[in-house]
Amino acid sequence: MEFSEIIGSEDTNNVDDRSKGRHIPTIEVLRNYEGTGKEYIRVVVGEKAIHPNTPEHHIEYIELYGRTKMMDTVTIGRATFGPGVKPDAVFGVVYFGKYREFCAIAYCNVHGPWENCIEIREELRLTAGCRREKCLQEGFGV
Ligand SMILES: [Fe+2]
Repeated sequence: MEFSEIIGSEDTNNVDDRSKGRHIPTIEVLRNYEGTGKEYIRVVVGEKAIHPNTPEHHIEYIELYGRTKMMDTVTIGRATFGPGVKPDAVFGVVYFGKYREFCAIAYCNVHGPWENCIEIREELRLTAGCRREKCLQEGFGV
């Protein structure tokens, strides 16, 4: 099942590029974030085109989900924003290596939910915070 089917986001195939650029969240893996030795996920809205940021029209929240190899969906966190606050969030991820995909939702108070997903390469998962043995012990599989 596709992530968009789970959250019921809009089909973005028929949306113009400007709207996509203003709403679709950008997801980035931050390796060894600030020297912690751990991976974090940064999600930003409006990197390609700036989204309005007024009381009438702004991004209300960003949610991040992880999807395991078995395609279980795990809620990682939610960051909320008010008007005037840039929608930019960094999420800590426990056992980064158990996830094969991360998906984010950005919710615009006018245009609804927008989603994006990134796949995590096998070699990154195996060299990240969750080593193979530990992941297997916890039943996640790698
Ligand atoms: Fe919007």
